[in-house]
Amino acid sequence: MSTATESTAAAGLRGVVAAQSSIGDVNGETGVLIYQGYDIHDLAENSTFEEVIYLLWNGRLPKKSELEDLKKQFQANYEAPAEVLEMMRTFPKDANPMDVLRTSVSALGFFDKEGHGTDRETAVRTAIKLTAQIGTLVAAWERIRSGKEPVAPDKSLNIAENFLYMMRGEKAEADEARIFDVALILHADHELNASTFTTRVIAGTLADIYGAVTGGVAALAGPLHGGANTNVMKMLKEIGSEDAVDSWLDKALGEKRKIMGIGHPVYKTEDPRATWLRKFSRALGEKKGNLKWFNMSQKIEKAMLEKKGMYPNVDFYSASAYYLMDIPLDQYTPIFAVSRISGWTGHILEQYGNNKLIRPRAEYIGARDLKYAPIEER
Ligand code: COA
Repeated sequence: MSTATESTAAAGLRGVVAAQSSIGDVNGETGVLIYQGYDIHDLAENSTFEEVIYLLWNGRLPKKSELEDLKKQFQANYEAPAEVLEMMRTFPKDANPMDVLRTSVSALGFFDKEGHGTDRETAVRTAIKLTAQIGTLVAAWERIRSGKEPVAPDKSLNIAENFLYMMRGEKAEADEARIFDVALILHADHELNASTFTTRVIAGTLADIYGAVTGGVAALAGPLHGGANTNVMKMLKEIGSEDAVDSWLDKALGEKRKIMGIGHPVYKTEDPRATWLRKFSRALGEKKGNLKWFNMSQKIEKAMLEKKGMYPNVDFYSASAYYLMDIPLDQYTPIFAVSRISGWTGHILEQYGNNKLIRPRAEYIGARDLKYAPIEER
């Protein structure tokens, strides 16, 4: 019998290449993230979320008419089936928004009779519906749990504008909507992260997109994955003030606590997404006359670099940015899904396009050759 210490299996599949993909690549040493060949900084500066979705799904930037057509298709599909919203009204009001999202995304499949095929045409149509409706579900839950009517989507708005409108009940100012649009671009894809890998494993069985995306939502919910952004804000609130940062940090590090939003399994330098979110956290702080959260974050970032040589990840500054956009703490992870749906569906389309069932082996470390004993003799 072999033991875990002699294992040839890579713990957590670290460093294992499990698929070929042209969708995105992460260079953890240089801090470079690309989508289909384009640097994330170039896309954040110049592109829009809708254009990035087209890029992820099709491997090239759209022509003007193609982009207009995709936008129209999203807008035409913003509305979620009334039956799903009706079902959500029966959920316990204190349910975790990620649990609500998982169940309601799954339920969308009931009302899309034609949407279960794995051929490219059907799969793209379903990807459009899911991408258009996932934000509607997140925003609807915010309203329903607060005892309010969901805000109907506005088909004249883009995905970022429409989401903020449905969530907060009023249209966002242009600069805030653009910040949110770029945040959606930054979270869209990150290679074979846990939730994306989950969607590929499910799609690899030729199960439909609704099933694959439901699995993606379930994986994203975990605190070691998409759940970290909420925990960053909880940490900032726990610390309470800029003056308290140093003593809080010394105590936390002394107790070997992990500092939320710091460190990354791949990046060993600055996460390029954090570069943008830091900028947004400051800009929103200046706009709202509240730089407290940004200043505290800066202090933690500086101290963690000095003391541990560690950098902030995507979740570190998105927390204070979303907080300043009046988004409730437990909705930060659902918002991650509103963006990551684009990467998930891109990977599902890629998987369907060249499918092979994903079926690795386990290194067996249990007993062998045992003889069955009747229950009376055990
Ligand atoms: N704060 C303090 N110490 C940290 C740390 C953090 N955020 N992240 C890692 N470390 C320390 C570990 O305690 C460990 O120290 P040790 O060698 O003395 O035991 C060392 O750095 C390596 O940690 P490990 O967990 O093995 O690194 P990893 O690269 O596998 O972990 C994360 C990556 C993201 C899981 C980890 O950094 C983390 O938990 N960060 C906080 C949660 C978070 O922000 N997650 C979102 C990721 S996008």
